[in-house]
Formats: sequence, C-alpha cells, structure tokens
Amino acid sequence: MADDIETLIERFQRDGFVHARAVLGPDEVAGFAAAIDRAVATRKRSDPRALADKSAYEQSFIQCQYLWEDHPAVRGLTFHPKVAGLAAALIGAERVRLWHDQALYKEPGGRETEAHQDHAYWPIAETDTLTVWIPLCEVDELTGCMGYVPGTHRGDCEFVDIFTAPGSGKALEAKYGDIAPVFIPCAPGDLLFHHGRTVHMAKPNRSERMRRAYTAIYFRDGCMRAPGYAHPSVDRDAIAIGAPIVGAATPVAWPLSSEGFPRPRPWPVAVSDRQRRASALGVIPPTKG
Ligand code: SIN
Ligand code: NI
Repeated sequence: MADDIETLIERFQRDGFVHARAVLGPDEVAGFAAAIDRAVATRKRSDPRALADKSAYEQSFIQCQYLWEDHPAVRGLTFHPKVAGLAAALIGAERVRLWHDQALYKEPGGRETEAHQDHAYWPIAETDTLTVWIPLCEVDELTGCMGYVPGTHRGDCEFVDIFTAPGSGKALEAKYGDIAPVFIPCAPGDLLFHHGRTVHMAKPNRSERMRRAYTAIYFRDGCMRAPGYAHPSVDRDAIAIGAPIVGAATPVAWPLSSEGFPRPRPWPVAVSDRQRRASALGVIPPTKG
C-alpha cells in the first residue's frame, strides 16, 4: 500500500473520499476480475439488448448486485480483509456489515453516471456508510473514471432520481458548483472509497473498451433501519423500522468470523413485478417465481 493508514483516514474524513493505491496485488485482482467477468456474463445472458435499446440509467452501466450470493468466487473480494478492514478503519467502526455489492460495467459509448448521493437510496438511519469502488482494469477520463465533490459528505443528503429522470444530477452539480469535482484515474490494485453522502459521478465511456469495476457498500454494525421504503438488504431479513440491521443479507464483512466467508440464504419468491424484472435482467440473483 502506497500510503499509511493514518493518511488515508485523514483524507477520507476531510474529503469524503480517498484513493488508496496498490492495496491489492495485480495477480490477485486479475483472478477476481475473471471471476466477476464470468458472473456478469452469466447474470446478463438473458439480456441481449444493445446499449441504444436500454433506459438512460442502464446506459450508464451494466449493474449486477448481490453477486457474492450466487457467485462464490467473488466472495474473496467482497470480504477481503484488506478491503473491508480498511473500510472499517476509514469510518472508525469496530465491525462493518455488507449492505450489498455490485459490478458496474460501463459499456463502450456508455453515458456518464449522473451526480448523486448514495445514502439517499438506502434505508439506513445513521450516516456511517461507505462504498469501495474497485477498478478491474485501468480506468481514466476516457473510459469513465469516478469524480467526487470534496467535503460534501458533511452537508445534507438529497435524493436524485438518476433511475427515471435523466439529467436530474445536474441540479446537484449546480448546488455544489463552486467546488470542482476531483476525477480519479486508477489502476487494478487500487481502491477508491467514498462516504455514503459524498456527491459523486463518473465520466462517460468514450473508449472502445468496457470499464469494469466492482463495488461493495459497508456500514457500521449497529446501524438501524430508517423509515421510508423497501430495500432487499433489509426486507429479506424482515428488519423492522428502528431495529438494528442484522441478517443474512447483510453479514459482518469485517472482522470475518472463524467460519470464513458468510453463507447467503436463497432469494425468496419475487414479491413485485419490479423484482421479477430485476431478476430476469440479472440485476439481482435468480429468485423463485
Ligand atoms: C459508476 O461506477 O459509474 C458509479 C458508481 C457509484 O455511483 O458509486
Ligand atoms: Ni453512487
């Protein structure tokens, strides 16, 4: 690792993001990248749509969530002690749980990822959350690197409807128009962390290569479910509003128990058309029915 941990913590707490260089070895990352490529190909095998036929949101990236559950070869990265251990250190938590993981592959010609704040999408009452964004290939301004607006993790948190209202990230960018986003080219082995409230976005992919990234969201063990909306990370374990988020869908990621990697529970019968569609498109694991 190029920087010592105190420096990384200081930067993360100051800026709401940090670039940790050369944390993982190239061979190790290449092995995980191959496993994630296979997992994404399997999940997406029933989705032959060309980029132009997808929604604006889907044109920002191919998204495959909860990959660790149906693709055991991915677990070594989701629960990597260097990754999850660093995540815990950055938010000053003794233990962290996984909220969910996801592959985010930006196709050649893929749209920008619009500015947003992640925490607005998660019913977690406390703010002790962060995402690790792991490049599986070289990522630069041409292929679609991430950009972060420094210090915005200390401000308020807005819901930006990047899912159905293309262009809505512009208002958030304008709100922080006096702070330039920092775009971060990175390489396999690096880890980018951002706080759940940090305003962030990504460049479009103007190259002919797929921009391949894997991300995992962690939160401090002890956080509670906030009121508001459904989310599979809490609904699958029937977590009540105001109760601690503890369940098989959100296992402790660090420190790992002596039993090794957590074991997932099968997904239940899909409860909505939205969930059935997400499963058919490979966004979430296969569900029954
Ligand atoms: C992206 O990978 O393009 C976006 C990731 C994020 O929103 O955290
Ligand atoms: Ni995000």
